Amino acid sequence: MAYLSTDKVEHHHHDVVIIGAGGAGMRCALQLAEAGYRVAVVSKVLPTRSHTVAAQGGMNAALGNITSDHWHWHMYDTVKGSDYLGDQDAIEYMCRAAPQLVKELEHQGVPFSRNDDGKIYQRAFGGQSREFGEGGQAKRTCAAADRTGHAILHTMYQQNIKAGTHFYEEFFALNLIMEDEACHGVMAWDIGKGEYHLFQAKAVILATGGAGRIFKTTTNAHICTGDGGALCLDAGLPIEDMEFFQFHPTGIAHVGPLISEAVRGEGGYLLNSEGERFMERYAPTAKDLASRDVVSRAIAVEIREGRGCGEHKDHILLKVDHLGADMILDKLPNIHELALRFAGVDCTKEPIPVQPTAHYTMGGIPTNRHTEVVKPSGDNEEDKVHGLFAIGEAACTSVHGANRLGGNSLLEIVVFGRACGLRVMKWLSEHRYHKTISPDAWQAGVARVERWLDSANKADVGIAEVRDTMQTTMQTHFSVYRTEDVMQEGVSAIEKVAANLANAQIQDKNRVFNTELIEALELENLMSLARATAASAANRKESRGAHARDDYPERDDKNWMKHSLAVIKDGKVSVDYKPVRTIPMTVESFPPKKRVY
Ligand code: FUM
Repeated sequence: MAYLSTDKVEHHHHDVVIIGAGGAGMRCALQLAEAGYRVAVVSKVLPTRSHTVAAQGGMNAALGNITSDHWHWHMYDTVKGSDYLGDQDAIEYMCRAAPQLVKELEHQGVPFSRNDDGKIYQRAFGGQSREFGEGGQAKRTCAAADRTGHAILHTMYQQNIKAGTHFYEEFFALNLIMEDEACHGVMAWDIGKGEYHLFQAKAVILATGGAGRIFKTTTNAHICTGDGGALCLDAGLPIEDMEFFQFHPTGIAHVGPLISEAVRGEGGYLLNSEGERFMERYAPTAKDLASRDVVSRAIAVEIREGRGCGEHKDHILLKVDHLGADMILDKLPNIHELALRFAGVDCTKEPIPVQPTAHYTMGGIPTNRHTEVVKPSGDNEEDKVHGLFAIGEAACTSVHGANRLGGNSLLEIVVFGRACGLRVMKWLSEHRYHKTISPDAWQAGVARVERWLDSANKADVGIAEVRDTMQTTMQTHFSVYRTEDVMQEGVSAIEKVAANLANAQIQDKNRVFNTELIEALELENLMSLARATAASAANRKESRGAHARDDYPERDDKNWMKHSLAVIKDGKVSVDYKPVRTIPMTVESFPPKKRVY
């Protein structure tokens, strides 16, 4: 493989480089650009195509605009929702900051829906209790109809343009520039021109989103390929809690697109083939607004026990029409359109066929609550990875633990986007100069591209086939319910598919706008994360949040109240653990107790 010398690479110098232009990356970029730093946002897609655009139902904050509320109740619900695996210091930080940051978004221009009194509209979402210690149902989720992510992403983009953020659009990150145990930049591929670019920075922020595409049926866009997590695994860093993958209860049956929890928040409900509101049996108080893991499991049981709907009895129905066409078109216009396009159903007249669908990566790149990437250093201690930060769905700041509450994702991106900006400013005040980078540092990234473009490599197998096998394996072996045998088979199968990727080739060997090459690079990233997910899941012998085992049906706090950390070393995946941070910043800890809704 040719050694790529300095003169063959386009060089850029910025104070900060952010990989990913979703809500987290752009909120962070805004903080830094407004403070006068030279910020680069490197994105593989046009910024407003980032997956934040698909977020529907809203963003949690205890504003109390409709029901009484308090950030401490929000914190309690989040800790309980996480099945006690969330880090309570980070959760306190997030829930405290939420009201202020929603108001800030409003002032930045996010067109939130309104109550009659002009205040921001808030709807009910799953897992929200009003009275401390459980009871009624709060309305905590701030919404712009059912297109909240779209509204936030576009506002963030406009604000960043105004603040002078530098956008590098359609650039694919190939490898982190790691020297002396610190990160100094990233090597990237200009998709449009087919050229290498080195982004040198004093701080690198990974904001690359989730990895839903490891599964066959997902609400995630094709771009959700876990790129940041894979860059970390490639750099020998661990990835945390990957066994906890959220299945959203209401993806459109067989195809996957999201039908927002907002539908149930506004009064929609689930029915089985007998016309029964079955959630009353599984969650007598919260019913259809129990947390997502509970609702997804209930649907899986209904289908497994023969009460699924349709010819194959493989989905259930989400009834909405009783809310009335006016209300649906006002508050839920997006799901009306999605149901029409993807299921051929007019939900003002008939129910929508739905099924649990892979939705959200609770795990990710381990960080502390200041968004600094951390790695184990022995005796349950952690070291910071200097110059490297992670935010949003790519990160595991561990505010979601084993199960995320709906509406906490849009919140997380804004809270920790800002927190990251603040922490990076401190870092920059102590680290003022770029390091001189040796060309050795980017050869791994170059090798990734050249391996695919080398026309001497003949195709044994195409990448579409490998990707399909990987996704089907993950869907079959690591779905809503899991057992030892099924997962062990899954681990072997995934390792086999991963080995097969080494024999795969692409047909298109052109450098300019080669989308097949990008799919191949994305598949490499997905494969690393699928392997980490499979190994972490097979290791955890308990049921907690989204990790539900038939053979270990109970939560085991004595042995398993700990975070997993998967690494890939010498081509092999191994899994270690670290403790949960149970002590909040200022309030009393919420000790684990039985989780009922
Ligand atoms: O159902 C939804 O609207 C999704 C929201 C979320 O994942 O937070």
